[in-house]
Amino acid sequence: MTMTGAVRDAQANTERPRTIAALARLHPYVKGSYTRLILGIIDAIAGAIVALSIPVVLSWIVDGPLTTNDPNQIFPAVGLIAGLGVLEAILVALRRWLVLKPGTHVDGAMRADIHNHLQRLPVSFHDKWQSGQLLSRAMSDVSTVRRWLSFGFVMLTVNVITLLIGFTMLFVWNPVLGSVFTLCALPMFYFGIRFDLRYRKLSRSGQDQAGDVATAVEESVHGIRVLKSFGRSAYAIDNFTDRATRLRATELVKGKASGTLALSLTALQAFAYATSLLVGIYLASTGAISVGTLFAFFTTVAVLRWPIDSIGFLMQLTIDARNALDRFFDVMNVPVRVREADNPVSLPAASGALVFDNVHFRFDDAGETRAATTPDLLRGVNLEVRPGETMALVGLTGCGKTTLTALTTRLYDVTGGRILIDGVDIRDVRLEELRTRVSMAFEDATLFSTTVRENVLLGRPDLANPVDEMTRERAETLLAQAIDIAQAEFVYQLPDGLETKIGEEGLSLSGGQRQRLALARAIVTQPAVLVLDDPLSALDVTTEQLVEAALRRVLATTTALIVAHRPSTVMLADRVALLHDGVIADVGTHTELLARSALYRHVISSESDEPRILENVDDERELDVATGVDELRAVDHHDLDSDRDEVVAP
Ligand SMILES: Nc1ncnc2c1ncn2[C@@H]1O[C@H](COP(=O)(O)OP(=O)(O)OP(=O)(O)O)[C@@H](O)[C@H]1O
Ligand SMILES: [Mg+2]
Repeated sequence: MTMTGAVRDAQANTERPRTIAALARLHPYVKGSYTRLILGIIDAIAGAIVALSIPVVLSWIVDGPLTTNDPNQIFPAVGLIAGLGVLEAILVALRRWLVLKPGTHVDGAMRADIHNHLQRLPVSFHDKWQSGQLLSRAMSDVSTVRRWLSFGFVMLTVNVITLLIGFTMLFVWNPVLGSVFTLCALPMFYFGIRFDLRYRKLSRSGQDQAGDVATAVEESVHGIRVLKSFGRSAYAIDNFTDRATRLRATELVKGKASGTLALSLTALQAFAYATSLLVGIYLASTGAISVGTLFAFFTTVAVLRWPIDSIGFLMQLTIDARNALDRFFDVMNVPVRVREADNPVSLPAASGALVFDNVHFRFDDAGETRAATTPDLLRGVNLEVRPGETMALVGLTGCGKTTLTALTTRLYDVTGGRILIDGVDIRDVRLEELRTRVSMAFEDATLFSTTVRENVLLGRPDLANPVDEMTRERAETLLAQAIDIAQAEFVYQLPDGLETKIGEEGLSLSGGQRQRLALARAIVTQPAVLVLDDPLSALDVTTEQLVEAALRRVLATTTALIVAHRPSTVMLADRVALLHDGVIADVGTHTELLARSALYRHVISSESDEPRILENVDDERELDVATGVDELRAVDHHDLDSDRDEVVAP
């Protein structure tokens, strides 16, 4: 699960659209919310106009009632100012209420979209991308966009408009003073643009590094057992600290850049303020300008203070949002290569003949860079599994057995040739239908943090949530059968039986128990084709034999392709296919192949490396138990040691 540096560089170097064009990609998510957004902006502009009208009233008070000392006029004027203040407050509250919904709506829609897309993306995508990077995109990047939309975007628009109106008013109050202030304020744009260029890069690397930190956390939590038992907790901490430090350094540089900008903007403003104050006082002393106008001028400048100050901060939000959107679309723009057929056909109700017709496959077609040089992993696999037949697939480790089985449910698509089920190319079948008809159990039996029942019925949502009594009964029967065949009766002994929660918050199961549940999960769907990737590897010999005997009953009616490492699993099959060098080197019964193929004898003997004396089962079990205890002791020691290390280390 690594996104290689090369991939990331390639992404960073591709021509990037300008910020406005980049942000315009939000359009589909905002479509339904434009009314509220526009109302929000109108509201905010009204608020700005109210704020800017306060100086007008003030200038009138200073030049009018205050000079003439007329209390009858002063009170209404002060009342007017108070009223304007209250109105401004109401408008601010209204604006927040208006833009709240577009923000949260966009947030929800983007998260749902990226989640759906991640579900549809092929396994090859997930092979390459770190889950922390995906997590940070779905979570923090989307939040950044929401904050920008409901605050940054609205305020930026409003502040730009306020500045335009405000600066115009300054010129109206007094052209000379207006020009002096504007001239002094101009360098602020220069600093603004320089900041923009610098901050853009920093912001992107900050977000990428945040993804790296998330990955470090995710991996070390996920691999906590391995890390602890190898005494490598310190290594995981170092790795995390390293990434966190890098992120911190970037954030510090970012903070410094923002700080420098804030400093320059404030200093320039103060300079502009002081200069125009000097000029203003001079003008007032010569009588070229009234005291009321001077007062109004500087009150207007005060109103403009926040819009000017905030420009830097808002620009920073905008750049962050733009980069967050880039990162979001980096994922969203990855095409879903495993596509639904344009005109899907249904699989015939028949038997489940599985045919590999000159199947080629290479991983790099999914975008890997070392592409051109590597030969195909599968180079013309031809194999016919007859309806109801059980075919074992054997081959040296790493020869592509797991990959070949993954092709049958289109976890990857073939890069050449085709796979047929009952004569229909599987690419012409709807994915959902295909994956109901072909059922898989994998080497690593992944279970979800939910009840045993839901785990086993994963592939049959109709049975998991029965609508009537009949379906419920059918679900119970199928469930009981599958559990029986997979020799998973242990589930009845769990604290809540089938309703026991397993996984993170629930009960932990052993490797063999997990495998048996995964097997039950594959069987319960009553598939036409059953694909098992070394399904019994974690079972002890007795249990394996029991499962095999039961499997034989299922397999009599189902077409099956079973990846096998042990001779005992191979015996289960009607025929054996030998995968070697990307092609099926031979097909025949176990006995035939043993007799005629040196390669087969080699593969079978090298695969069954553990001593296996089937007649002497009991002895061997004792051996297993003994080594097991030793291993446990070793682990215990290790854990204690590493715990001690952890205490001493800091
Ligand atoms: N996602 C992937 N991207 C690139 N290469 C891969 C990927 N998955 C597997 N490979 C490579 O493809 C080859 C075949 O892997 P595969 O898992 O199919 O072997 P296998 O026959 O199932 O091995 P084993 O018997 O050990 O389970 C290996 O060399 C492996 O390195
Ligand atoms: Mg494998």
